[in-house]
Amino acid sequence: MKIVVIGGSGLIGSKLVPKLREHGHEAVAASPNSGVNTVTGEGLAEALKGASVVVDVSNAPAWEDAAVMSFFETSTRNLLNHEAAAGVKHHVALSVVGTDRLSESGYFRAKIVQEKLIRNGTIPYTIVQATQFFEFLKQLADISFDGKKVRLPDALFQPMAADDVASAVGRVAVGQPLNGTVEIGGPETFRIDELVRRRLAPLNDSREVIADPNALYSGAKLDERTLVPGKDARLGETNFETWLTQSAGKATAAGTR
Ligand SMILES: NC(=O)c1ccc[n+]([C@@H]2O[C@H](COP(=O)([O-])OP(=O)(O)OC[C@H]3O[C@@H](n4cnc5c(N)ncnc54)[C@H](OP(=O)(O)O)[C@@H]3O)[C@@H](O)[C@H]2O)c1
Repeated sequence: MKIVVIGGSGLIGSKLVPKLREHGHEAVAASPNSGVNTVTGEGLAEALKGASVVVDVSNAPAWEDAAVMSFFETSTRNLLNHEAAAGVKHHVALSVVGTDRLSESGYFRAKIVQEKLIRNGTIPYTIVQATQFFEFLKQLADISFDGKKVRLPDALFQPMAADDVASAVGRVAVGQPLNGTVEIGGPETFRIDELVRRRLAPLNDSREVIADPNALYSGAKLDERTLVPGKDARLGETNFETWLTQSAGKATAAGTR
């Protein structure tokens, strides 16, 4: 099967493309890097020629409210139109667990629009909502740093390894469209502040991390379980300590730590 991975150069895309190839599929990584731009439409018709499945694991390059909305709205419309013209049989998109509960956030309002365009479109689809990636924890600390402390909401989450995200998305991509949403998550639940603290320690990042009941997540107020998936979520295998050990090993091998 020809499977086009939009955002194929990104964190999830670059793990997904080789997994699909290992299973004998013709996986094509598509992104501005390789001349395919879903916002301008450049290269899309050519990339989608003969494709059965399109997997959208792209992300907006800028996260201000208007920019992120414009990205997901324009990109999703362009993709779905080009998919209809090319006869694509399955559109798979990566979204976030709890998206519909996070409409106070500009980023999540854009993801809500992305999901709605897909649901209301003509292409059979599956939306995969993932929890936060372990790889995102350092960035979460950075965007939650007020210059003195890292302030995080006093809530639970169930993050997962990007590798497990890519495996789960790959399984969905080669299956039948569900015309619905599946949730995927990690094997363990944590307090957000607790896990970010545990992520920063081996990086020798000494910033103080506190749970602040008034702190927002991407501009939205969280309830205790806003980010936690439901009981039917498909769970990844990699627990946090295993991921930490593996990523420390890779960083040492790459000379980055
Ligand atoms: N971070 C989390 O914890 C989390 C959790 C759940 C779900 N998600 C979702 O996961 C998805 C992927 O996230 P990620 O962190 O893997 O992304 P990422 O590493 O930031 O990669 C973004 C990708 O999007 C591509 N891209 C940017 N502009 C594009 C355009 N105009 N046309 C086509 N491709 C474009 C980039 O291509 P170039 O390299 O060529 O610029 C890159 O391949 C997002 O939709 C996000 O909402 C994230």
